[in-house]
Amino acid sequence: MSKPTGPKPGAITDDAASTAHEGPRAHIQTVRLARKTQSLDILYEVATCLSQPGSLEQLLDGFLDTFIELVDARAASVRLVTGDGHTRLIASRGLSEEVVERDRLMQTGRCQCGWASTEGGIRTQSGTGECARLIGRPMLERDCEEFVAVPVQYQDRILGVYNLFLDRPLAVMGEDMHDLLISVGRHLGLALEKARLESDARRLAIMEERNLIGNELHDSLAQSLIGMRLRLKILSEALARKDFGAARYEANGLRRALTDANADLRDLLTNYRLKIDDSGLAQSVANLVERFGRETGIAVFFQNDCRVLELTPAQEIQVFYIIQEALTNIRKHSGARNVRILLNNEGDLYTVLIEDDGLGMGDPDEPMPGEHAGLAIMRERTEKLPGQIVIESEPGEGTRIVLIFNAPPAAVPAVAERG
Ligand SMILES: Nc1ncnc2c1ncn2[C@@H]1O[C@H](COP(=O)(O)OP(=O)(O)O)[C@@H](O)[C@H]1O
Ligand SMILES: [Mg+2]
Repeated sequence: MSKPTGPKPGAITDDAASTAHEGPRAHIQTVRLARKTQSLDILYEVATCLSQPGSLEQLLDGFLDTFIELVDARAASVRLVTGDGHTRLIASRGLSEEVVERDRLMQTGRCQCGWASTEGGIRTQSGTGECARLIGRPMLERDCEEFVAVPVQYQDRILGVYNLFLDRPLAVMGEDMHDLLISVGRHLGLALEKARLESDARRLAIMEERNLIGNELHDSLAQSLIGMRLRLKILSEALARKDFGAARYEANGLRRALTDANADLRDLLTNYRLKIDDSGLAQSVANLVERFGRETGIAVFFQNDCRVLELTPAQEIQVFYIIQEALTNIRKHSGARNVRILLNNEGDLYTVLIEDDGLGMGDPDEPMPGEHAGLAIMRERTEKLPGQIVIESEPGEGTRIVLIFNAPPAAVPAVAERG
């Protein structure tokens, strides 16, 4: 942030003194104008710093650093209401670790912060004697002149407060200061709400992924384990009746099942360890293809004809895993020598094609019994995009998967406006 700001609010009267000879009215107007410009500057700086990308922690750090500097405060902090009659300190500057620890959770009915967070409005008190009484030690080594609590608000909800520890009372900083602080509280509220929504969306995406992993584990490994337990039972019975031929037969079957289960587990682990590359879907697929070719010796031709690939992060994950499962199947079942993967788009409509020249299969639309979950999960992922998938295959003719979807996903019409 390089936008220069004017002198700090407290210094305005001195700066404007040079205009005093133009008469008292002109002088007052100049001072007002200078203060208004500075208020706008401060608001601009705060809004800019709150709109930077980053984690909640980075956002609050940036806010406190910028704001402390702009209003020349000795310390500052942000508290959020917890929903059970408390406010929780979530970020601070200029307060000692011990103070932060003692001040972490505070009942709302007991102090200026609590009142500002329940009833709204800016609250001020001279110094921090009241706070010191509540936390059992001084807030600052040398007390400040005025302590200010300002609500942090999103629409008509108060999310918390922010505090300033000032060496000059608010009253001498100009009449705009009050509105400015309220405005800053609203900007902060908006940024916090946005961060909360983003983190909810991320949590949801992770939970859905875990669900899918759970399903895959259940469909592959859990089923194999049940099968092995059964074989073990038959094996013990054969041993009990000294039928060594049958016992050897079951032991061999058990060994094969164990090898398969082990391979399945390895697939699951590598698949879920592979993450979407930060550089996006195309690069992630290129990496996947490169590794696949190296490990299997199958020739893969990958072409990305999209000039821009503007998928949502959730869509990128789904498309990546669909391609990955298709490649796993090609390795496990197709005996193919060549694979072709094409990405292209016409405007918002994207197409992904994955084809191999292998053995092909019977009817790909026929649901597979038991442990075969890969194709079903591919279809589930396609629904999430949302999109359509067509799997074409004939025995001896290779397999062709075509995935079509819109990105970004077409907006779902709002059922009813809230509020
Ligand atoms: N590219 C392919 N070539 C030949 N057969 C395939 C291909 N993809 C899938 N199949 C067949 O479809 C079946 C179901 O695949 P899937 O649901 O992924 O289960 P899994 O891979 O665990 O067997 C496979 O067992 C295989 O017989
Ligand atoms: Mg599979």
